[in-house]
Amino acid sequence: MKKPRFQSPTGMHDILPELAPYFQKIHKTAENTAFFYNFGKIETPILEKAELFSRGIGIATDIVKKEMFVLKTKGGDELALRPEGTAPIVRAYIEHGMVNLPQPVKLWYFGPFFRHENPQAGRYRQFWQFGFEVLGEKSPVIDAQIIQIFYNILKSLRLKDIIVEINSIGDSQCRPYYKKLLVNYFKSREGSLCIDCRRRLRENPLRVLDCKEEKCRRVISQAPQMIDHLCQECHNHFKEVLEFLEEIQIPYVLNPYLVRGLDYYTKTVFEIVSQGESEKRTGSLAGGGRYDALGKILARKDIPAMGGAAGIERIVSLMKEKMIKVSQPYEIKVFLAQLGPLAKRKGLKLLEEFQKRKILIGESFGRDSLKAQMARAHKLGARYTLILGQKEALEGTIIVRDMASGKQDTIKLEKVVKEIEKRLKK
Ligand code: HAM
Repeated sequence: MKKPRFQSPTGMHDILPELAPYFQKIHKTAENTAFFYNFGKIETPILEKAELFSRGIGIATDIVKKEMFVLKTKGGDELALRPEGTAPIVRAYIEHGMVNLPQPVKLWYFGPFFRHENPQAGRYRQFWQFGFEVLGEKSPVIDAQIIQIFYNILKSLRLKDIIVEINSIGDSQCRPYYKKLLVNYFKSREGSLCIDCRRRLRENPLRVLDCKEEKCRRVISQAPQMIDHLCQECHNHFKEVLEFLEEIQIPYVLNPYLVRGLDYYTKTVFEIVSQGESEKRTGSLAGGGRYDALGKILARKDIPAMGGAAGIERIVSLMKEKMIKVSQPYEIKVFLAQLGPLAKRKGLKLLEEFQKRKILIGESFGRDSLKAQMARAHKLGARYTLILGQKEALEGTIIVRDMASGKQDTIKLEKVVKEIEKRLKK
């Protein structure tokens, strides 16, 4: 088939009605969890000043360096399509003086994000995330609670075999020394690293640790590990996080190479992955960590914070692969078939009566043949079809057909809503 002239932009896709129930189910599950744990919903703009991200996420990160969609306004401002939600939330927290509210402030979100990545399985240029952020609290119990929230949401979506990978990447006290150790180690083996890693070594040495190239993996496997070089405070913090996770029985593995692609993290970082082979290729379902330094970077304010985000497309794709069914958000039990112009007019009015009583009713006003309309009623799985012909419309009656038995009764038009209501309750 010839491709149409206009298609959705590369790496961006339509969410068609058959996918909508998955999105709705994930939204509902996240929303119920947010409600239970007392998180307020926040919507930040799709566009933000590009500098918010270059400062917040880090100028040398892939997200900022290669993947941001940046546009210039007529006034000369540089705005970016948001590649993630954490920096905008810290911006909003500061801007709206949320520091004066009782702490911590708990916020959640659900929306589209944009990264100019090479499109491949699980990697899109427009993708959806839901995220949970807790600002103004430094206790390690929050780290465990955020991980628990993501783990439980994925579990309630009936995803099995998921596991939390966790690491601590220290803070400004202990990381500089570790970075030096790491750079020395990699420099002495630079010839065995890929080109990208040689660049990373100069710009962002920690990122070498999560390179997937086979030859780099061999070098990385002998590299010094951050958890052996944490300062006392970071060490205690991490130990407590792990103890909390054990207490609430969240399965985790220590991954000493987990550093994540955003510079704002301190201490705990985590990802939740599915353990099947195909899912490993798709990447993490959710990820996050503590970002105590982000407030300082953006506004010279100390805002201890912890959060995470999950990728909706990746969750949906895994749910489909595992044949996890989601129910349709609505089910049509009644169908209205009409014949003739007067019946059409009366039918239009009748639909409103059903809407008032919150009874979903299907119709096919564009079709005139009864046969085609009955076929549609069958397809929708209606229990009753109401048939309004020219004769019935003139007499003020309507035929109610029980689709299972084929039995038909003629009743008064003004009584039909009540009658259907009664029958549906049976
Ligand atoms: P992230 O790891 O970049 O973290 O993204 C979180 C999740 O979004 C990933 O685990 C993945 O499921 C999904 N994701 C990321 N990029 C793509 C893509 N190109 N296509 C499809 N899905 C994708 C963050 O964004 C941080 N803001 C998370 C966070 C919140 N940290 C602290 N608070």
